Amino acid sequence: MLFEEAMQAEQAAVWRDFLSLQCALFSPGEIEVLKELGLAHDRGPLLDLGCGNGAYALRLRQRFPRLEILGADSSTALLRDFSDDIKASGIGGIRVMRWAAGQEPPPAEVGGCRSALLSVFLQHVAVPLDILAALRQALPAQARVFIIEEDDGLCVADPPCPPLDRLLRVWNERHCGTRTFGRRVPGLARQAGLRVDDVRVCAHSTVRLGAEALFGYFKATLPLLLDERPGGLGRGQAIELARDLDRYVAEHGPRCCVIFPRMVVSATVP
Ligand SMILES: C[S@@+](CC[C@H](N)C(=O)[O-])C[C@H]1O[C@@H](n2cnc3c(N)ncnc32)[C@H](O)[C@@H]1O
Repeated sequence: MLFEEAMQAEQAAVWRDFLSLQCALFSPGEIEVLKELGLAHDRGPLLDLGCGNGAYALRLRQRFPRLEILGADSSTALLRDFSDDIKASGIGGIRVMRWAAGQEPPPAEVGGCRSALLSVFLQHVAVPLDILAALRQALPAQARVFIIEEDDGLCVADPPCPPLDRLLRVWNERHCGTRTFGRRVPGLARQAGLRVDDVRVCAHSTVRLGAEALFGYFKATLPLLLDERPGGLGRGQAIELARDLDRYVAEHGPRCCVIFPRMVVSATVP
């Protein structure tokens, strides 16, 4: 199911809260990886494509106060939230624009950007290769492109955590069709004519974040997975799954090691 359909099917507010929680947990580690990979504040504006409610962009701007950001998204509802948060936070240097990438040509503003961030965006679009190819054409030479994606195939748990395996399987069926998208990104970027410079695995873990926090995130995905159709995850099953996740944390929390990785790919427009 594409993101737009999912947004309409579920309450937009649930998605907004989820994006904010996801960003609060994962962006601090990832932003340091982006910095190591060469995200610089002095190279002109960064295009944050698929910026959503802007949680990531606001954190980036707080970390790099001189980094100008142009947020772009197809969802007017999320862009409205983003604009409200920009005003409420008093943080400057961020602009937003509506762009349904892949359906509309890149706006002229994209040509003025010196880098682009695509965070958990490509897995949600119908033809990611076309969007990467359009960006490669629209961005200036030597612009940097940073892509963050999930790859649950790299997810590990000790002791094993069957409810987490189940949750990841349900997410895969309900949303993206593939939760091992991360490893496809370097190949797609190359096919689109980008030079792929590096790939990092950002290992978000119970060790760093704490079992309560990481499992809190897993549980926050449950409302987005509800599906009352035959074979889907019903409300009762979701409650049971949440209980099983809680049981795992109660039993193994202090000594478990669960790693939920996200991949960070850096590329350059030749
Ligand atoms: C999972 S959210 C990621 C939000 C944000 N980048 C983050 O990491 O928190 C995916 C975003 O992509 C946007 N999106 C989906 N298809 C799009 C398209 N064709 N053009 C622009 N944005 C799109 C959605 O509206 C949504 O905000």
